[in-house]
Amino acid sequence: MKILLTGGAGFIGSHTAVELLKNNHEVIIADNFSNASQAVIGRIEKISGQKVKVYNIDVCDAKLCSRMFESEGFDAVIHFAGYKAVGESCVKPEMYYRNNLDSTLTIIEAMEKYGVNNIVFSSSATVYGIPEKVPITEDMPTGCTNPYGWTKYMNERILTDTAAANKNLSVVLLRYFNPIGAHESGLIGEAPNGIPNNLMPYIAQVAIGKREKLSVFGNDYPTHDGTGVRDYIHVVDLARGHVDAINYASSHKGTEIINLGTGVGYSVLDIVKSFERVNGIKIPYVIAERRPGDIAQCYADPSKAEKLLGWKAEKNIDDMCRDTWNWQKNNPNGYEE
Ligand code: UFG
Repeated sequence: MKILLTGGAGFIGSHTAVELLKNNHEVIIADNFSNASQAVIGRIEKISGQKVKVYNIDVCDAKLCSRMFESEGFDAVIHFAGYKAVGESCVKPEMYYRNNLDSTLTIIEAMEKYGVNNIVFSSSATVYGIPEKVPITEDMPTGCTNPYGWTKYMNERILTDTAAANKNLSVVLLRYFNPIGAHESGLIGEAPNGIPNNLMPYIAQVAIGKREKLSVFGNDYPTHDGTGVRDYIHVVDLARGHVDAINYASSHKGTEIINLGTGVGYSVLDIVKSFERVNGIKIPYVIAERRPGDIAQCYADPSKAEKLLGWKAEKNIDDMCRDTWNWQKNNPNGYEE
């Protein structure tokens, strides 16, 4: 299939591009590089041995989007593009709602105009808000704790309602848990701007000596060691899930919501210890205050993904720690020279 990846130069998008190319799909990337490097494209091409066509556009721009759809004739879209920092979304909510909703509306309108019927959307476990139980199944109540999360929630609504009105459409909403790790080549990985918000990129920067120590946000949660528990998933497993989701979309109609996680929860200190053991590097840390908005634990029931897509996470926490460090040590400044 010929597949458009909006935000295809980002962390999850770039890994998905590689897996799609490996499975003989044609990949076209649309990215405005506001939070991604142009160097990513060359790296994808190096790993895959194939050329990737890129549109350097903002997918909120309806005219440019329309022109791209007209000239390409896509079979499917995977929509990753969007702002993604939880903290920033609380400070600049209008910017988040404008960008993240506008892009989805523009894409879905272009799809309808040009008869593209399959879309996979990058959603998040954040839409479960404070879950009433774990593991989390797709039918559990939703509700968010920050504007970023609400944009994911609202985009799910927009796509679900559009598919209800247009019976030709097929929508797969993928709710990601916590993607970490990197491609085993060490050529692509997560390259956050400035101080990392998320745990694994922060640990990686402590390991490389860019940050002095990790702050562990709270050790008084009701978990096995008091620190927050999450379902960390290797980004390559997550990327494979998109290949399966796009195949599923092309042979079904309507909307499906699917969790992509491993089903296993690890605490912050579990991750620190695994990283230290696997890579032989000490990660100094201090216990700090809880981070506002954080929940005690969040992990998936991934059985629906296995049943519908035949997908299952294959990589373990050691793989995630090893590949993160391999990427970080080979690219101490991310994609910057
Ligand atoms: N943590 C620390 N220190 C840090 C960073 C994180 O102790 O410097 C802890 C957090 O308190 C939490 C765990 O590590 O317990 C994971 O935190 P992350 O920021 O890595 O991930 P979150 O689970 O908070 O958020 C992630 C994504 C969001 C997404 C959410 C969905 O970043 O985009 O999962 O559940 F919405």
